[in-house]
Amino acid sequence: MSAAAADNAPAQKAAAIVPAAIVVDHAVKRYGSFEAVKDVSFTVADGEIFGLLGPNGAGKSTLIRMMTTLMPITSGRAIVAGHDVAKDPNAVRRVIGVIPQALTSDPDLTVEENLSIYAKLYSVPRAERAKNIAEVLEAVDLTQWRGAQTKTLSGGMRRRLEIARGLVHNPEIFFLDEPTTGLDPVSRIAVWEMLDNLRRTRHLTMLLTTHYMEEADKLCDRIAIVDHGTLVALGTPIELKHSVPGANVVEVHFDRESEEWQKRLEGMEGVTSVQAESAGFYRVLTSSGSKTTMQLVELAASLGETLTSLSVQNTTLDDVFVHYTGRQLRDEQVKPPAFTLPPRPGARP
Ligand SMILES: Nc1ncnc2c1ncn2[C@@H]1O[C@H](COP(=O)(O)OP(=O)(O)OP(=O)(O)O)[C@@H](O)[C@H]1O
Ligand SMILES: [Mg+2]
Repeated sequence: MSAAAADNAPAQKAAAIVPAAIVVDHAVKRYGSFEAVKDVSFTVADGEIFGLLGPNGAGKSTLIRMMTTLMPITSGRAIVAGHDVAKDPNAVRRVIGVIPQALTSDPDLTVEENLSIYAKLYSVPRAERAKNIAEVLEAVDLTQWRGAQTKTLSGGMRRRLEIARGLVHNPEIFFLDEPTTGLDPVSRIAVWEMLDNLRRTRHLTMLLTTHYMEEADKLCDRIAIVDHGTLVALGTPIELKHSVPGANVVEVHFDRESEEWQKRLEGMEGVTSVQAESAGFYRVLTSSGSKTTMQLVELAASLGETLTSLSVQNTTLDDVFVHYTGRQLRDEQVKPPAFTLPPRPGARP
């Protein structure tokens, strides 16, 4: 061990004994006979921004609902800020803020009224309410809109209001289910900056789900990828990118579409996967971007073909996502459990 590393050892030890903010331990959720979450385990460190990624229907919202006491766990445990969600749900509710996937602020109330109702629901003492509301409005940059009716806000402002509402009782742990879905790129970046700022100024731990890989890459310290209710990968964005075979992505567009491109590309040295994106356009994962590029140019020249475009990039989180979850659409629907209504009085059988 180097001297510098030895000097750091006590600090690292101290950091290691800070209890995890969230522990999910062999969690299972069954809806009837359908298992939506299958034996998932992970921990989120204090002060961390943790991302849950996965295709539609993977089980992300179900995991959030279990961690936030909105739905009972079928088996396994979830411990949030030291409290077991099954044994002490009220203690959990006091220390968490939740932004659900759907917008839930009341459109007919003003911004301030929406915040005030929440503060009362969370029993924030009257003396602190006005101060907390002013602080969260400032944090999400909505102070000048405090008197506006919520239905008059833009999508980005409405999302910021939802974030403010989740913070009005000063939670320690913040759960956000798709906080930027439907926002334009500028509003999305504004929300990222806001969340990063909040984490630092309020020392919040955050667990968020997103379908935007760039968002996860920029914002999250660690990422878990779930698919079909199972955790399929876990690590920092860099670790996940390194875990995918092929360090570079070469995007190539042939002027002419031909059935042989796919096979030829797959046969090249160092190439680990080839995805056909559209006619003549391929995304090639390779261990050496420069070698593959040279080979492609030579191939095109030898066949008298034209390359319309050619680019080399490092592996992105999109590649990681596709590697771990595949490319099939997840449109399968689960039938809701059958309920039998009692017959109406007088109804014929
Ligand atoms: N109340 C319910 N009853 C029955 N099945 C459900 C219920 N809620 C969710 N499911 C099913 O459980 C699975 C996981 O759903 P969940 O909402 O957790 O997915 P998700 O990862 O959040 O997806 P999305 O990205 O579309 O929000 C899906 O197959 C869904 O159809
Ligand atoms: Mg969801």
